[in-house]
Amino acid sequence: MPKTALSKRAQNTPPSPIRKLAPLAINAGKAGIHVYKLNIGQPDIESPREYFEGLRLFEEKVIAYEESQGNERLCRAWSKYINRTLNIDTRPEQFIITVGASEALVFTFMTCCDPGDEIIVFDPTYANYLGFAAIAGINLVPVLCRMEDNFALPVRSRIADKISDRTRAVLLCTPNNPTGTVCSKEELRILFDLCEERNLFLIVDETYREFVYDDFEPISALNLEPKSDRIIVIDSLSKRFSLCGARIGCLLTPNEEVLASALKIAQARLAAPTMSQFASAYMLENIKDDFLERVTNEFRARRNKLYAALKEIPGVIAHKPQGAFYTVVQLPVEDADAFATYMLDKFSYDGKTTFIAPAAGFYMQGSQGLQQARIAYVLNKNDIGEAIAVMAKGLESYSRR
Ligand SMILES: Cc1ncc(COP(=O)(O)O)c(C=O)c1O
Repeated sequence: MPKTALSKRAQNTPPSPIRKLAPLAINAGKAGIHVYKLNIGQPDIESPREYFEGLRLFEEKVIAYEESQGNERLCRAWSKYINRTLNIDTRPEQFIITVGASEALVFTFMTCCDPGDEIIVFDPTYANYLGFAAIAGINLVPVLCRMEDNFALPVRSRIADKISDRTRAVLLCTPNNPTGTVCSKEELRILFDLCEERNLFLIVDETYREFVYDDFEPISALNLEPKSDRIIVIDSLSKRFSLCGARIGCLLTPNEEVLASALKIAQARLAAPTMSQFASAYMLENIKDDFLERVTNEFRARRNKLYAALKEIPGVIAHKPQGAFYTVVQLPVEDADAFATYMLDKFSYDGKTTFIAPAAGFYMQGSQGLQQARIAYVLNKNDIGEAIAVMAKGLESYSRR
């Protein structure tokens, strides 16, 4: 009997480019090699003790479903946190609590687009956007950001050129994964004005909002136009508070119609996890601002260490990321995927090797980024120094093959 066919959607959903080489890393580990993991955005920062305290304070005898919109106390605490840190005036009713930013993105795509509609994204892009688009049956239309320009947003006309009669939204991630580039308020304003003129939603993924360095201050798209019906903010506790496994994110918008429609989708999936919402509310109510100051300072120091180390390696072109905890570098190799594979499969120095993510998987346009890799600076400074030194040895050895 022939096999029962699977959906085109399932077949078209791309595998995660950062997990692709993971089996090789597991094998290297089994062979006794220490693998420095710079491939994935899993920070090593300890989660706030206030989250664990919150978990211990959960005293219900039944772990019941939460409200589909989210735990009321959490919506209030998150709204207060945003209002205090960004000096805006959000209201708890403008939040839908989701299973991470990931679910908020799926809800947003489903709410704003019909199958076949288009969303403009900036390339290279957070690779899971492709998966969310496949789930929602929509097409992402890439606008290229170039390494020579530090991956800054292209000029307005290059973005406007991509708008078609199927375009429903522009999706921006700032601070950016994978490039670490941060949008200025002026650039955000240009995008907002374009969306206003062409009647599009502006979806801004602010998962890394507080992780900005040098002269940047954390801002939200809602700082531009706090009451705009056009703006949908995607937010998450995952990276900011090192709570990736807590699975708490939100969709935040002043647009009541979007909220009402997204809520219907939220109702269909019932609710985000009860205990995690309870603990997150307690954490946001009790955490001190110095937690984030400390973490941001730590990432800044790691960024500086990484950038200095990369600049020392002959042939490597590094740009200095302004935010998040990623950078994309150009390596002196023809094919960064083959080099990343070599590092895990064939190379070790002093019993160690380094795991980087080939950047081609983050580009939607086929031939881009073949010589580039994304590096996540999620290890402590010492380990970053060691990992980059091992990568430099790997590059030497690779060029001699
Ligand atoms: C840009 C961006 N958006 C969203 C997510 C998903 O975050 P969450 O853990 O909140 O689902 C990530 C995770 O790496 C990310 O980098």
